[in-house]
Amino acid sequence: MATKKTSVGFVCKECGADSSKWSGQCLQCKAWNSIVEIKLGSKQESRSQRFSGYSGLASDVQSLSKIENQELLRISSGFSELDRVVGGGMVPGSVILISGDPGAGKSTLLLQTLAHASLNRQVLYVSGEESIQQIAARAKRIGLPLEHLKTLTETSIEKICAVTDQEKPEIMVIDSIQAMFSESLDSVPGSVSQVRECAALLTQYAKRTDVVLLIVGHVTKDQNVAGPMTLSHIVDTQLIFSSTDDARYRIVRATKNRFGAVNEVGLFAMTDRGLKEIKNPSAMFLNRSDKPRPGSVVNVLWEGTRPLLVEIQALVVESQFGNPRRLGVGIDQGRIAMLLAVIARHGGIFTGDQDIFLNCVGGIRVMETSADLAVVLGIISSLKNVVLPQNMFAFGEVGLSGEIRPVANGEARIKEALNHGFDHAVIPKSNYSKRVLKKGINFHTVSTILDALEIF
Ligand code: TYD
Ligand code: MG
Repeated sequence: MATKKTSVGFVCKECGADSSKWSGQCLQCKAWNSIVEIKLGSKQESRSQRFSGYSGLASDVQSLSKIENQELLRISSGFSELDRVVGGGMVPGSVILISGDPGAGKSTLLLQTLAHASLNRQVLYVSGEESIQQIAARAKRIGLPLEHLKTLTETSIEKICAVTDQEKPEIMVIDSIQAMFSESLDSVPGSVSQVRECAALLTQYAKRTDVVLLIVGHVTKDQNVAGPMTLSHIVDTQLIFSSTDDARYRIVRATKNRFGAVNEVGLFAMTDRGLKEIKNPSAMFLNRSDKPRPGSVVNVLWEGTRPLLVEIQALVVESQFGNPRRLGVGIDQGRIAMLLAVIARHGGIFTGDQDIFLNCVGGIRVMETSADLAVVLGIISSLKNVVLPQNMFAFGEVGLSGEIRPVANGEARIKEALNHGFDHAVIPKSNYSKRVLKKGINFHTVSTILDALEIF
């Protein structure tokens, strides 16, 4: 007699791989102690049962060339910064996971988004974490339009789906996935099996009803979304909402996006009236002191699709210990070591007995190589105790043989600097642009480290 199958399985918390039995190490990602037992929601059919009775119809198979090109409809979130990050607006039927540290402002961002959307669409804010009074108090304090902002405090996914079947929202927020539970499982909310089951149910629901689903996910200490990695695989878009070192500012970045690029960042400031988007970020990260100081250089970064002016600060002091320190905030440690090696070998400047500290002001992380030249100039400026002109900016990549290489979007970077009153450019030769010359910019083009040293 066939025994009834127990519906438990095992899943790796790190990579989301399924397995039929427990083991100390995940066979897929080799992580130790990451396999946990989960309860499976629905009865597993045997393989023969699954395949019998279903005959694949030939009409299911289609040639891609026959599919007509359809422009994706997009819904605005009311924040142009957020719209840009998700690829130009939210796509109906898509599932967007917003993860971030506690207190980053995820609930505030989504409440503001929904309040804006509620003016001309059906919306539903489902909270499993805050009471309806708390939500109302916050919304009132920020001064949001509340009339059409429908709210539900509930944690059972089945009940939520039943309510949404009646309400038929076009945009829905689930705050947070770790607070939700499915009645088909008896494990506690927030456990791997619950998070996985709830996310799967919600995703099916979104695809079926074309609702835009915004899901809040908490992160663990190591910045992973608490719960299985499968959550990241299930959703269409994953956004990370984080605070910069300067506690006022928030950065939203996509780490996965089925409907757009992932290199865009959106910038917000947390004020006493909720989140405000920052449309001119360069001005914000450039709060420089009026007096020029050694070690400070302005660099033009490229963030997603736009230039961003940031100040890079260097401090070079004689080391008190045998082992000199190299520390970078927002700048890659390996890159600093490489640049120091290049200026030693090709510029004849030795820093072996110096402690070197670098800081990218405003909590921005430098993700590209265009800051190399500014870092080098900052280090030498601090080492020689020479101030560089206040109206100077620099960008360019430094190569291992001491050459300064051009970077992409040179002209747009120069224009951005000009717009903010920087008219003295130290840039790679190939980024020199005649077109912006007319505007009264003073160029110093460099092709090697030695050229760059000339400005001192
Ligand atoms: P919240 O949206 O609750 O964060 P999360 O949902 O990511 O945990 O944001 C809470 C933080 O934001 C809290 O520290 C207070 C701050 N805040 C403001 O500074 N101004 C405001 O208008 C609001 C609503 C919150
Ligand atoms: Mg919250």
